[in-house]
Amino acid sequence: MRPVALRTPRLVLDLPAPADADLVTRYCQDPLFERCLTTPWPYSRADAEAFLTTHVPHSWASGIEPTWAIRRHRGGILLGVISVREAQHELGYWMGAEHRGIGLMSEAARAVAEWTLGGGIQGASTVFWRAVVGNVASARVARAVGFRRIEPDDAIVPTRDGGTLPAWYAVREATIDPRAHASWGDVLGVIR
Ligand SMILES: CC(C)(COP(=O)(O)OP(=O)(O)OC[C@H]1O[C@@H](n2cnc3c(N)ncnc32)[C@H](O)[C@@H]1OP(=O)(O)O)[C@@H](O)C(=O)NCCC(=O)NCCS
Repeated sequence: MRPVALRTPRLVLDLPAPADADLVTRYCQDPLFERCLTTPWPYSRADAEAFLTTHVPHSWASGIEPTWAIRRHRGGILLGVISVREAQHELGYWMGAEHRGIGLMSEAARAVAEWTLGGGIQGASTVFWRAVVGNVASARVARAVGFRRIEPDDAIVPTRDGGTLPAWYAVREATIDPRAHASWGDVLGVIR
């Protein structure tokens, strides 16, 4: 698959590049990542270089996990990263700490979900999301994008050491399920 750039009102999603290594290294020192993500921990510059020079090109070429850099404009600094894994069309994302809380990930995640469901990934009729139980910020992104929470008995996320943790799960189809927003009431409290 050839890399595809996506645009939203405030963002450009394009290819993460070797020149992004310093920022990726810095952002991935965030202690939140130790628990919420499976990125290496501790995270080194060599990890960022391997991600940018090997994982990202392979993920696009194989189609296994299209992966984007989130930027304000073409050539702008990398703010965060988002991907969609082919197997279950699972969204994964992180945002550099200083760029959080202004709706940017919700905007990026909506664009990637809609690209996936709109034919970006052939045959994809659902997009999947999951997060470690308690990851409220990520759940709010999923809610904002129109995901509907589901509660299978065995909802888990893998950990970087081969274990698992209990997880929240959600799905989204091309048309947002009218029950989607309310489905988050149990974990995000009062609907707003
Ligand atoms: C999850 C994450 C990507 C959100 O990025 P962001 O750019 O701040 O997201 P947005 O600004 O679009 O915010 C989305 C919602 O989360 C809320 N939010 C943001 N930061 C929050 C926090 N620390 N605690 C609770 N809610 C938070 C926002 O208020 C917003 O809620 P609303 O839509 O109900 O108004 C970011 O916190 C992050 O990178 N976390 C660490 C990595 C991670 O957990 N990735 C997801 C793994 S499943």
